[in-house]
Amino acid sequence: MANPGKGTFLITGGLGYIGSHTVVEMLLRNYNVVVIDNLSNSSELVLDRIAAICGRKPVFYPIDLCDRSSLEDLFATEKDLQAVIHFAALKAVGESVENPLLYYKNNLISLINLLDCMVSHSVHNLVFSSSCTVYGEPDTLPVTEKSPIKQAISPYGNTKQIGEEIIKDTTQSTQLRSIALRYFNPVGAHSSGKLGELPLGKPNNLVPLITQTAVGIFPFLRVFGNDYATPDGTCIRDYIHVEDVAIAHASACERLLSGNGKDYEVFNIGTGTGYSVLEVVKAFEQASGLTLPIQVENRRPGDIEKVFADTSLSNQILGWKASRSLSEMMRSAWVWQQSLNNKE
Ligand code: NAD
Ligand code: WQD
Repeated sequence: MANPGKGTFLITGGLGYIGSHTVVEMLLRNYNVVVIDNLSNSSELVLDRIAAICGRKPVFYPIDLCDRSSLEDLFATEKDLQAVIHFAALKAVGESVENPLLYYKNNLISLINLLDCMVSHSVHNLVFSSSCTVYGEPDTLPVTEKSPIKQAISPYGNTKQIGEEIIKDTTQSTQLRSIALRYFNPVGAHSSGKLGELPLGKPNNLVPLITQTAVGIFPFLRVFGNDYATPDGTCIRDYIHVEDVAIAHASACERLLSGNGKDYEVFNIGTGTGYSVLEVVKAFEQASGLTLPIQVENRRPGDIEKVFADTSLSNQILGWKASRSLSEMMRSAWVWQQSLNNKE
């Protein structure tokens, strides 16, 4: 049921992994939420999971953002939108190397259609899902928002760099105001145990591969390289709990609506702490009480040796700080994996 006193937010890709956790966060804050998702990497059943946590569902439109006329119809119908949180994108790095046009078409045409509709319907506030991938292999650590943007390693990464540029240019020539959030490595699941990542097909990311190995879907976890210049030889990343990422979106929306800040701002969304692959495996073993079979293999092409965020800007300006530990990330991911398995 709509909440007349509160704002209405359009969340694209709202049935996906990070989007669904953000929908929950916004509904629990009593905002009204409208979701667009073409279900290319999600399921309509996520709406029931959201309702099981929040007691209500968002309004849902099963449309593709590349379909300009359906998007126009939505903006004509939903007249009270105060802001858009734009998650919808394809995100598999390897697939983007094999099929770059699929990625440029889906991620950029959808963004351009969205911006066009926002400008013509006077919806002035946008939060954009960017990524630490824009920093490539950083020269110095931790990376700040002023660290150089490196040549993109994949077409996927390039869609984030180009996406940021398109949005920045649009804020300079229209009334659009935008915050781009550069997430580091979102992992884990909702603390209720009712929501998490629903990987369709074989996952690419470390944590779902760990939990699926633990339930026997894979015989062992492949550790990609142990000869990096890091304390245990494995790569280092800034893993962040998906609920902390969701809260960052609420903070970004609230900043945009307050009218504070510049027309275009960028924030790192990480914990500020880097963990190695083997440290993550150890944290998982402690959280689950299991021993995870691993096999060290060659380095994965394109992998960055180490990257973690300087989060002082988001801490100070957004008033946001990640609070959940690596152990909570692993515990929630494990509870979620077990709940998926119990249903099969
Ligand atoms: P996800 O695949 O779980 O969610 C994306 C959702 O968008 C899916 O539900 C998909 O069906 C939908 N979608 C894709 N193209 C669409 C289109 N043209 N029209 C309508 N819906 C469409 O991915 P996620 O992990 O939740 O990522 C969300 C965003 O965050 C993406 O933009 C991603 O690039 C970015 N990001 C993700 C990570 C990560 O590690 N998960 C890290 C940094 C940035
Ligand atoms: C993490 C670490 C692997 C799988 C990707 C995207 C990036 C961003 C975040 C969206 C690395 C190691 C992994 C495995 C392993 N996404 N690993 N065995 O590579 O940091 O980043 O997701 O914007 O753009 O590239 O995440 O989870 O794939 O890997 O040893 O089976 O785990 O080598 O060190 P990554 P990841």
